[in-house]
Amino acid sequence: MSKFSAAITAVGGYVPDYVLTNKMLEDLVDTNDEWITTRTGIKERRILKEDGKGTSYLAIKAAKNLIEKSGIDPKEIELVIVATATPDMKAASTSAYTATQIGAVNAFSFDLEAACSSFLYGMSVAARYIESGKYKKVLLIGADKNSSMINYKDRATCIIFGDGGGAVLFEPNKEGFGLQDEYLRSNGSGREFLQATYGGSSYPSTAEAIKEHKHQVFQDGKTVFKNAVFNMADVAVKILDRNNLTTNDVSWLVAHQANKRIIDATASRIDLEEEKVMMNIEKYGNTTSATLPLLLNDYESKLKKGDNLIFAAFGGGFTWGSIYLKWAYNS
Ligand code: UT7
Repeated sequence: MSKFSAAITAVGGYVPDYVLTNKMLEDLVDTNDEWITTRTGIKERRILKEDGKGTSYLAIKAAKNLIEKSGIDPKEIELVIVATATPDMKAASTSAYTATQIGAVNAFSFDLEAACSSFLYGMSVAARYIESGKYKKVLLIGADKNSSMINYKDRATCIIFGDGGGAVLFEPNKEGFGLQDEYLRSNGSGREFLQATYGGSSYPSTAEAIKEHKHQVFQDGKTVFKNAVFNMADVAVKILDRNNLTTNDVSWLVAHQANKRIIDATASRIDLEEEKVMMNIEKYGNTTSATLPLLLNDYESKLKKGDNLIFAAFGGGFTWGSIYLKWAYNS
């Protein structure tokens, strides 16, 4: 057992200015505001429009926001992890560019890719570095420019996804706050239901594939939905049981924002009242790796030292899991 636990000690976030509303989507695909709102809870999402700006732009902005708010010296950061499903480029690490741009000149860095569970898995990885006793400041960023892989003629995907970034700092804590337990899973038989088939190593992009939008995300929404509801609720129950927590002990559910109905189903399975469920899907849609840190950023002022947070996520692969974390500070 480590002498330290790994606590979140600062958060930051960023979303682009451009707002894509449900009404605007009505001009692009056969859909309507009422359908999107009732089936997903989403009203609008943010899109990074400028040419040549990728996920690192969102990651850098989120990290700079954290640095500014917390006043930490970026030179003290020892590791930068960028959790993302949409890295800037192949072969060149998004995290290396991000770390350099934020002035984390003494850090090493790597990208972590696990679809919508990237940030959740990243919390586990960041915590292990802290718990080892070797690292004192680990910056975990979740960022995705989903608009780079969305077909705005496909109503099954374009209504859901948005762009954004969020960042958290992990530091050692001797009072027992921070990450308490995790229950992480994956099942590769799910990958056929949510993927961008072309553009990776199995099927490099071809002119024909691009013409047919096969380099962009496809999903069998219903199957993903069913698996998300079952598995997110299942892991949330497991983590509560394993830690002898009752619903009354839970301060907040911090759930991946993919569809309000999935989040509601998870909350209902653990009998959690609506006031304890963090929700911002209406503003940003599904920002993939950024949903969890953007929730923390939006709710930071409401969080109190000692609050019990239950994180849950589900995504492509399939990948999913739950984390139990004790909040470490009052803002
Ligand atoms: O982060 C992890 C990744 N993604 C997810 O977790 C997403 C999981 N899936 C979902 O959120 C939902 O499945 C969707 C929002 C994608 C779709 O909602 P749904 O309630 O599963 O709808 P559906 O696919 O069962 O379709 C119901 C009806 C169909 O019409 P008919 O056959 O009943 O006449 C669809 O054609 O709604 C129609 N439909 C739409 N109508 C208006 C499907 N998409 C749309 C749309 N606008 N955008």
